[in-house]
Amino acid sequence: MLRLVTCICVLTPLEILAKANKKVTGVLFLTGLTVAASCILVSKPARKADVVTVFLTGNELGALKPCGCSGGQLGGLDRRSAVFNSVPAKRRLIVDTGSFVEGDSEQDLIKFDIVVQAFSLLGYDVVNLTEEDIKIAGSLRLTDSIGSLFNIITSERPTDANLPTKFTKKFSLKSKTIAVTVATFNAESAPIEQLGKLFTPPAFGGQTVNILILNRCGPGIINSITKKEIVDCLVCPAESDEPGIISDPNKKPLVVSVGRFGRYICKLQIKPAKDKGKPELSFSVVPVEEDLRQEKSLLSLYEDYQQLVKGANLLEEIPRFFLPNGLEYTGSESCKACHEYEYGKWSRNAHAHAYATLERVGSQFDPECVTCHVVGMEHESGFVSEQKTGHLKNVGCENCHGPGSEHIKTGGIVGFTGPKSACIDCHTPETSGDYAENEELNFEKIIHWTEPNAPRDVK
Ligand code: HEC
Ligand code: HEC
Ligand code: HEC
Ligand code: HEC
Repeated sequence: MLRLVTCICVLTPLEILAKANKKVTGVLFLTGLTVAASCILVSKPARKADVVTVFLTGNELGALKPCGCSGGQLGGLDRRSAVFNSVPAKRRLIVDTGSFVEGDSEQDLIKFDIVVQAFSLLGYDVVNLTEEDIKIAGSLRLTDSIGSLFNIITSERPTDANLPTKFTKKFSLKSKTIAVTVATFNAESAPIEQLGKLFTPPAFGGQTVNILILNRCGPGIINSITKKEIVDCLVCPAESDEPGIISDPNKKPLVVSVGRFGRYICKLQIKPAKDKGKPELSFSVVPVEEDLRQEKSLLSLYEDYQQLVKGANLLEEIPRFFLPNGLEYTGSESCKACHEYEYGKWSRNAHAHAYATLERVGSQFDPECVTCHVVGMEHESGFVSEQKTGHLKNVGCENCHGPGSEHIKTGGIVGFTGPKSACIDCHTPETSGDYAENEELNFEKIIHWTEPNAPRDVK
């Protein structure tokens, strides 16, 4: 019945009458009328002052900000406040489900600290720490101090800290009081029976909404939690970048996942029940788009990050592989003498200023960016820094043709054998959104060789 009402409510009362008319019988006509009448009440948008909004994010996995390589990229911690601030603090709850970074490299540790500071600046109410988060927080000795920035919950039991498993915030709306509890539970190590204890009703009465964050979500686990009828919204780990509703929309609890890399912010809106019943939940997703305002304090936090990355000298320390057969990179300048025509063409192309592009945005010390904007970063004899290997900055001849040492030594007799990149190795769907659709056009733009029948320009 509930579903029927929500369905019909999309139509105007007149349309409903028309529909009922088609079905002819007077009884139906009457039902149509009553439905139409009740619809006017139900479909009237709930007063904003009477709705609690829970913002759910998670699985940042180190994506502080999209690279900005091409237009239309989603995400960025600096754009989140524009979404959060659409709801006044007294009617919102901001929750992160954890997994701040992807691994535990030195760069991940720097990012972890930045994510913690970002969550504090963004006014997060409660953050769930996953097993990996707890480990990294421990190694950075942050376990105690994080709790002073925002509330934390975790289902992990680190030996050096006694951390809560749940957090409750009470909202006094115009007509009702609602308590939203966010809890986390390790369904593998603890019996489901203990769920009841986790969600004890708050002392002040009022309506309750229970949100549970799980670290693993099989159908078996979801089923046994559903049977308990305690949980209203279950948040499962993300299997794709996009968030979504996993459960049958007609069944309770609502089972959702929040996506990855911060490209979307999930919104769980809670409308209190009129009388005794359960509050009504609705789930929607906001893409974090480029036109959302960037928050200044978060932009400067990102600059701090770039400075930390620079200070840590990460480019010097990344693992580098030897090229096969003793080959070495020689730099685009070294090709100029014999391939003046090709060199000239290339130097007027975007590839030839790819490093300056990174300098413009301050990311020239970040290995995650530099790798596609220079020659051979992952190899011995490849790019290390502007000072040490200035001849290898930019996307050069050797990115596409391979290391040049043998070719040059033999005056061009020996061709290229070493590793080289295809266009799509760098022009990925993420960095170069519409590249695949315009492959031919892009290829034409970089033509720097003479036509097959034209005299070769090799000196
Ligand atoms: C996987 C390879 C790759 C990585 C990693 C990468 N880039 Fe790029 N970047 C590209 C490509 C390819 C383009 C050109 C895209 C296009 O024009 O379609 C580009 C273009 C850019 C541009 C120029 C946009 C414009 O037209 O003004 C900027 C700025 C940029 N990248 C910054 C970054 C930053 C910052 C990072 C690290 C966070 C990064 N890139 C990491 C491949 C990469
Ligand atoms: C090593 C990584 C890398 C490879 C390989 C690569 N590119 Fe690029 N490409 C870039 C980067 C980085 C930029 C952005 C340069 C800038 O604007 O600073 C770019 C820019 C371009 C642009 C300019 C985009 C514009 O709209 O102005 C074109 C066109 C292009 N690449 C085509 C190609 C083609 C075709 C290939 C293969 C034959 C290729 N690229 C291979 C990294 C790469
Ligand atoms: C973005 C990738 C890319 C870059 C950068 C690039 N080339 Fe090329 N180059 C190609 C492709 C693709 C072709 C044409 C197809 C082929 O022969 O593999 C080509 C063709 C050539 C040819 C003609 C080859 C033949 O068999 O006729 C020469 C010579 C050449 N490039 C030299 C250079 C030099 C010198 C530079 C640097 C100044 C350079 N290229 C930079 C991708 C690149
Ligand atoms: C000492 C002169 C000389 C230098 C320096 C030189 N080349 Fe060549 N290159 C040649 C000659 C000669 C040929 C053969 C021309 C032919 O077959 O028409 C050649 C052919 C090529 C070809 C096409 C054949 C193949 O093996 O794919 C490419 C691509 C090329 N060179 C790229 C480069 C690049 C990139 C560099 C710099 C790393 C470079 N060359 C430096 C002389 C040179």
